[in-house]
Amino acid sequence: MAQKNCNDKIAISLRNVSKYFGDKKTIDNISFDVHCGETFVIMGCSGSGKSTLLRIMTGIIKPEEGEVIINGKDIVRCSHQELDEIRKNFGMLFQYSALLDSLTVEENVALPLKEHTKLAPDIIKIIVKMKLSLVGLRGYENYYPSQISGGMRKRVGLARAIALDPDIVFYDEPTSGLDPVVGGVIDKLIKDLSEKLLITSVVVTHDMMSVFEISDRIAMVHKGQLIAIGTPEQIKNSTNPYVQQFINGRPDGPIDFFKEDIGLKEILGL
Ligand SMILES: Nc1ncnc2c1ncn2[C@@H]1O[C@H](COP(=O)(O)OP(=O)(O)O)[C@@H](O)[C@H]1O
Ligand SMILES: [Mg+2]
Repeated sequence: MAQKNCNDKIAISLRNVSKYFGDKKTIDNISFDVHCGETFVIMGCSGSGKSTLLRIMTGIIKPEEGEVIINGKDIVRCSHQELDEIRKNFGMLFQYSALLDSLTVEENVALPLKEHTKLAPDIIKIIVKMKLSLVGLRGYENYYPSQISGGMRKRVGLARAIALDPDIVFYDEPTSGLDPVVGGVIDKLIKDLSEKLLITSVVVTHDMMSVFEISDRIAMVHKGQLIAIGTPEQIKNSTNPYVQQFINGRPDGPIDFFKEDIGLKEILGL
């Protein structure tokens, strides 16, 4: 396994981040650090604010309160140019960022290289081949997305996400819609790529198999608040009943999937 050489450094730092949609506080005063080189998993129920948090971390949307520090810059307040510069180091595999059906696998992976670099077409071809072999899809260059399976399409998305050799890759529900076996392949790939390419990975998921398979650290979000953070061991041993109910997938417990308003004071022990 490649040595992760920068675990003591901070890749992303969130400080008291809050985001409102209308009157609703969707993200409520969240602070945490993502360390360089780690695979940081954000888990929580559907609607808890995970995707919103990821969109804030990638600068797609801005929170009303708080700071998001990346490379020493607060991406909430920096200029468009500075944000563009920082985002060149990001790779993203988002839940609904589908491949373009009219383009081949090769053309899909080449897109960010064509858009963000001035590399010659034959060099881009070589880079695309390399990225496709990293995700186990060498030889599929000329296939169209409709000609390959769902798991393979995710892998093409993964190759596209790492096309520009990013420092940080953000994944939103990378295994959603896949059967557990194929999901397991994607998990293994995320882990392998993080280790081989020394990438910092931020993975949003509610898939418990994935959480413990890939994480170095885990944050649990519930109703927009950070209710637990720690190593997989610490999360497994957490005494927080919400964490226990979620990781064990129990229908009964403090999380009421049918009720909107859950007593957060109780969760946080206030
Ligand atoms: N653009 C938006 N406008 C209004 N409400 C939104 C928007 N995006 C998300 N929300 C709401 O914020 C909450 C959290 O959503 P989301 O971050 O997508 O949750 P998750 O990814 O954990 O399922 C949900 O109640 C959702 O309806
Ligand atoms: Mg989501």
